[in-house]
Amino acid sequence: MKIIVADKAGFCFGVKRAIDMANDVVRKRDGPIYSLGPLIHNPQVVDKLAQEGIIAIDDLKEIHAGTVIIRSHGVGPEILSEVYERGLNLINATCPFVSRAQQIARDLYTEGRQVIVVGDKDHPEVQGIVGWANGQALVVQNSLEAEALGAISNAGVLAQTTQPLVNFQQVVDVLKQKTEQLKECNTICHATGERQQAALELARNVDVMVVVGGANSANTGKLANLCRSTGTPAYQIETAGELRVGWFACVEKVGLTAGASTPDWIIEEVKKRMNELGEMNGIEESKEQLEEI
Ligand code: F3S
Repeated sequence: MKIIVADKAGFCFGVKRAIDMANDVVRKRDGPIYSLGPLIHNPQVVDKLAQEGIIAIDDLKEIHAGTVIIRSHGVGPEILSEVYERGLNLINATCPFVSRAQQIARDLYTEGRQVIVVGDKDHPEVQGIVGWANGQALVVQNSLEAEALGAISNAGVLAQTTQPLVNFQQVVDVLKQKTEQLKECNTICHATGERQQAALELARNVDVMVVVGGANSANTGKLANLCRSTGTPAYQIETAGELRVGWFACVEKVGLTAGASTPDWIIEEVKKRMNELGEMNGIEESKEQLEEI
């Protein structure tokens, strides 16, 4: 059985940078270390970070001293102010692409425009961006929600970095009809699109796809659904232990991809286990062939 790993699989630039920054803080340890929310959506990595002494907290009020790491999703300016006010050390691991979206939201607001964010209003990245527009931004998930908005004289629209381009464009098209002036700012990061494209191309050329990532990771779920949309069966797992030998029976080529919060060591473990299961199937098939002779 041949296993092909997608060109772009696993950690994106922003997540890798955040993990590197966290490891650096651990090396230079000076008092307790916290992350505001889990650093990434991967329980295995979060457990590993906890073993190294990085404690995930939900609220700054839970702590009185030490270092706080802000994850790649970023936060609103009010949270950064609170970190300083409470005398905590700040390690700001906000992905530079997210920082750019935050600055654009702030600029659009300062220019006196109604800021509109295309994205998921419950996602921490979006909540942070809204904070940079002084909490005054509207959030729409899709063109249907944009249709429901009233007329706006002067607006600026930007996107959650992981939005599909087509969704952003559909919302912009609707907003053009509803606004007198619209400043359009595409803040989509290419990492997601490139990973999805690589997974799609691979899924079209293999018999089965395996998608690795946290069960609560939205980008991993989207990746698995995209693979399924090609008609190729796709299994979403968190760890190698979830692989089943039956998935690879009579299979020649298997594709392997992973969400943005999956580290290389988990991808390697999964690949190794897939090889073992492929060999087990090979032995079974040889036995059956011998019995037929
Ligand atoms: Fe940054 Fe894009 Fe990853 S915004 S966190 S590089 S998906």
